[in-house]
Order: sequence, then C-alpha cells, then structure tokens
Amino acid sequence: MTHRLAFANQKGGVAKTTSVLAIGVALVERGRRVLAVDLDPQGALTFACGFDPDDMDETVNDVLVRRLPVEKVIVSAEVDLVPSNIDLAGAEAVLLTKTGREFALQRALADLEGRYDYVLVDCPPSLGILTINGLTACGHVVVPLQCEALSHRGVGQLLETVGDIRHFTNPALEVLGVIPTLYDGRSRHARTVLADVGGRYGVNVFEPPVPRSIRFAEAAQAGRSILAYAPSHPGAEAYRALAATIEDSL
Ligand SMILES: Nc1ncnc2c1ncn2[C@@H]1O[C@H](COP(=O)(O)OP(=O)(O)O)[C@@H](O)[C@H]1O
Ligand SMILES: [Mg+2]
Repeated sequence: MTHRLAFANQKGGVAKTTSVLAIGVALVERGRRVLAVDLDPQGALTFACGFDPDDMDETVNDVLVRRLPVEKVIVSAEVDLVPSNIDLAGAEAVLLTKTGREFALQRALADLEGRYDYVLVDCPPSLGILTINGLTACGHVVVPLQCEALSHRGVGQLLETVGDIRHFTNPALEVLGVIPTLYDGRSRHARTVLADVGGRYGVNVFEPPVPRSIRFAEAAQAGRSILAYAPSHPGAEAYRALAATIEDSL
C-alpha cells in the first residue's frame, strides 16, 4: 500500500520543500521506497535534489496538462522525483478550463499504486488549483509551520481548504500533523507558539521541532538533503525522528 502525504502551507519559506526532501530521505534510510512530487513552478525541490529545473525536458506539467504517464518523467536522486519547472506556471490556467481539473494528479499517481511506499507531494505556497490537486491526490496533509512567524489566520485558512477538499473531492483526507520548523529554542516566542498551536487548531504537533541552522540552505545549494550533507547534524537527526513518528502515526 502506498501512503500519499501532501506537504502544504500557503505561506512560503516555512520549510515545506526542505521537509519533503528530508523526510523522504529519512524514509529511504528506513528502507522505504519514496517518490517526491514537485508541485511548485519554482522548482525548488527539483533544484534541492541536484537538478537544474530549466534543464528538465518533461515535468509534472506534462503529466497534469498533457496526461503524459507519470513514470515517463520520474528521475532518480536521493529519492525518486517528479520534477517541476516554470512550465508549471501555465498549468494553472490550462487546468481551470478542464473537466476533472482537481483530479489530474490523483489520476496520474493511481498508475503507480504499489510501486512506492510513500509519495510525498511538495505543494506551492498558495491555495490554488495546484495545491487542490495535491490535497485531492493524498490521504494525509502534513503542515510545516515556522514557529517564529506563525500566522494563525494562515493555518485556519488552510484547515478550511482541507474541509472544502473533504466536501468536494476527497472525503478521506486527514490532517496528520504539524512539523514545527525553523525552531530557535532560545526564543521564548518560539516556545510559546509551539505550546499553543496544537490546542488552538486541534491538530497533532510532531516532535521534535526542527532547529534553525544555516546548514539547510547550504545543503539545498549543494543539491543534497541535510541527511546526506551533514548526516549527524541535529537538523538531520530531527528529521529522522520525525520520519519515525510519521510512520508510527499512519
Ligand atoms: N531548519 C532550517 N533552518 C534554517 N533554514 C532553513 C531550515 N529549513 C529550511 N530552511 C531554508 O529556508 C528557506 C525556505 O525553505 P523551503 O523549504 O524552501 O520553504 P517552502 O518550501 O515552505 O517555501 C530555504 O532557503 C531553506 O534552505
Ligand atoms: Mg517550497
């Protein structure tokens, strides 16, 4: 059976992309077969996996818009990857004219059933049709949340969208939990936010929080996960622990 997890938060810079790659690689270390799907026209996940997005001939855009079979675009890195690039920016407008537009990714991924233990979908920083495709295609949502600059209204909006998705396209969708990211344990504000968020929204907040470190940006620049770039760094260890927790909670 394949678990499909959408990493979503309409706020940018909260470590969605970083978390998809790090959790994905931690799951590979645990012996799982993992596919990551870059659903952001910025192609940050594709870049973080060591590819130049502009060099990718066929991407998730061809899968969603031209119905190219998804196995034709998968490339292999620390995890298997469905790449993306700026071509996907046009997909939004094209999909909006199509019947079944919310289901394009779900239909594409159905072809892979059983080939992977996990499919992790990296959603873009919006609640538009691409994120709706991600949420429609997955059984669970994981919400990376920056402890410092928490926008409460943002989380409420995301949970409202999850409610809409349940109503219209994917009744089985569940919020698996929040990954607290960019955590500065010395800041009292960060600790307060962390203590508050679970109760306020009735969601599970995973442990441990991922510490803030310049190593993450360095790893992404090098086209590698934090687990490969700095294997014993506390950030890598945090993601290993989170991957174990995620597996236990499924
Ligand atoms: N724990 C962390 N500490 C410091 N920087 C981080 C951490 N996690 C991610 N980053 C950096 O923050 C930026 C935004 O992360 P990213 O994963 O791209 O966020 P999103 O996908 O939500 O926009 C990137 O430059 C990334 O390298
Ligand atoms: Mg991103």
